[in-house]
Amino acid sequence: MPLSFRQVGPCFAAEVSGIDIGKPLTAEEIAGIHEGMNTYAVLVFQAQFIDDAQQLAFSRSLGNLEEAIGTGLRAAHEYRLPTTFADVSNLDKDNKPFARDDRRRLFSIGNRLWHSDSSFKVVPAKYSLLHARSVTSKGGNTEFADMRAAYDALEEETKAECEDLICEHSQMYSRQLLGFADFTEEERTRMAPVRQRLVRTHPVTGRKSLYLSSHAGNISGWPVPEARAFLRDLTEAATQREFVYIHKWRVGDLVMWDNRQTMHRARPFPVHEPRDMRRTTLVGEAPTAAQAGLSHVA
Ligand code: OGA
Ligand code: MN
Repeated sequence: MPLSFRQVGPCFAAEVSGIDIGKPLTAEEIAGIHEGMNTYAVLVFQAQFIDDAQQLAFSRSLGNLEEAIGTGLRAAHEYRLPTTFADVSNLDKDNKPFARDDRRRLFSIGNRLWHSDSSFKVVPAKYSLLHARSVTSKGGNTEFADMRAAYDALEEETKAECEDLICEHSQMYSRQLLGFADFTEEERTRMAPVRQRLVRTHPVTGRKSLYLSSHAGNISGWPVPEARAFLRDLTEAATQREFVYIHKWRVGDLVMWDNRQTMHRARPFPVHEPRDMRRTTLVGEAPTAAQAGLSHVA
C-alpha cells in the first residue's frame, strides 16, 4: 500500500496511512516519510504497536540517533530505558509515577513550555519520534506550532531584525522560567549555554523558520531583559492558534516532528496516573551557529 498523508493541522501536520513502522522500511517508504516531513513537519502514525527494538530500528532507518544521556535529571542507575531513548514518561525505574515534588518530575515540567528538542545542544535535534505506550485518563495532549508559518506571518521589518540574530540556549533558562533554579555546580557546567541562529533555512525546501525555544534565554550582544522580552513576543506571535496542531494521544500513536521547523509543548495530566511516552531523537547535521566561549553562565 502506498503512503498517504491527510493534513490534520491548520497549516501543517498530517496523519500517515499505508505503512507498518514495525517492519523494515523500503527505500520508497523512507523517501516518502522524509518528503512528508519536509511538507508537513509533523507526522502522526496511528495504531503502531511497536516495542523498543522496533522503535529504534524505525528511527535508525531515518537517520542517526541522538544519545539522550544527561538531558534529564535521572542518574545513570535510575534509567528505565536504554540511553538511546529520552524517557518522557513520569515513571521511575519500577514504573511507578514520580511523587508530586520529585525533582526529576519538576524538571520535566519544563516540557510544558514551548520548545524545540535539544536546542540546548551545539548540534540540535532533527526529528523527534514519540511513541505512546500508556496514556492518562485526561489531559496530556501535546501541542505543536509551525515555525515556518509563524516566520512567514512576521512583518518584513521584524524578519530583517531577526535574520542574523544568535540566541543562547540552555536548559537552565527554561527551568528558571518556572522557578526551578537550584542547580548543582555539575549541572551548571553540563547545561552551559550554546548558540543557535534565530532564523533557520530548511536545507531541502529552502523555507525559513523561527528557531525559538523556551531554552533561549539571551540574544548575543543584547541586554538580557530586552532579549527576553523580544523572544517572548515572538513566541507569543508564533504560537497563536492558527499555527497550532493539538495531538490527543492514543496508545500506539507515534508522532514524529521536525525540531528545525516546529515547537511543541506537553499539557498537564493527573499526577498519579502513569504516562509512558518514549522518545527517540535524530541528531541534526551541524551547528546552526559558530560557537564562541560563553562565559556568563547563568
Ligand atoms: C518530548 C516532549 C511532550 C509531551 O518528548 O520532547 O516535549 O507531551 N514531549 O510529553
Ligand atoms: Mn520536547
